[in-house]
Amino acid sequence: MTRSGPSDRNALKRAAAEAAVAEVENGMVLGLGSGSSAAFAIAALAARVAAGLRIVGIPTSERSAVLARQLGVPLASFADHRRIDVTIDGADQVERGTLNLVKGLGGALLREKIVASASDRMIVVVDETKLVDRLGGNTPLPVEVASFGWQTVFDRLAALRCAPRLRLADNKPFMSDGGNYILDCAIAEILDPAKLEARLSAIVGVVENGLFVSMASKIMVGRPTGVEVMER
Ligand code: A5P
Repeated sequence: MTRSGPSDRNALKRAAAEAAVAEVENGMVLGLGSGSSAAFAIAALAARVAAGLRIVGIPTSERSAVLARQLGVPLASFADHRRIDVTIDGADQVERGTLNLVKGLGGALLREKIVASASDRMIVVVDETKLVDRLGGNTPLPVEVASFGWQTVFDRLAALRCAPRLRLADNKPFMSDGGNYILDCAIAEILDPAKLEARLSAIVGVVENGLFVSMASKIMVGRPTGVEVMER
């Protein structure tokens, strides 16, 4: 078995991100994703902006907004644009075939999902370790919940056999950009993502969940042999 360390994986993420950014055209409104793969995309965009590309980006997290500003990528908001041409974002898992995703390990899933749902196309950039035959398993499904009464949502998720765990940061509840908590759910196999998504959304107190069903139009997969393109 070949082993790949973080720097190898970063090279694959960067290659995937650059392939996605190569599809960006003048005048586009872009969704700027969150996480390390999306950061490579923002850096690649910045290089094209410096070379004359005219775009604006709507960031999915404060962190991505800061990075974009630092690198000189012009930002906009939904007050300026109601629709987005293309969103480029990472993912925590990509299901082969369906291209359904789990996202939110970085804690930005609510904004990521709002941006993705307002986008004509979503290009996902990952290294090959993110590909799975079935969502779930070792990667938890993040569920963003209102901080008020989160314990009641915890119990409802436990009753659904989702094995929730409150995400912590510095021994305190992790707080999303939206001011909410995140319950990470351990699920062995997500057999029907659309059904689970509907069940989660029906729980009062759930703000959003990390299942992105039928949202990705294209996946750029960084592999040691090159970037593989998967389309839905
Ligand atoms: C952020 O909330 C997530 O949805 C990210 O897209 C995800 O964690 C991917 O991160 P990396 O690109 O750093 O692996």
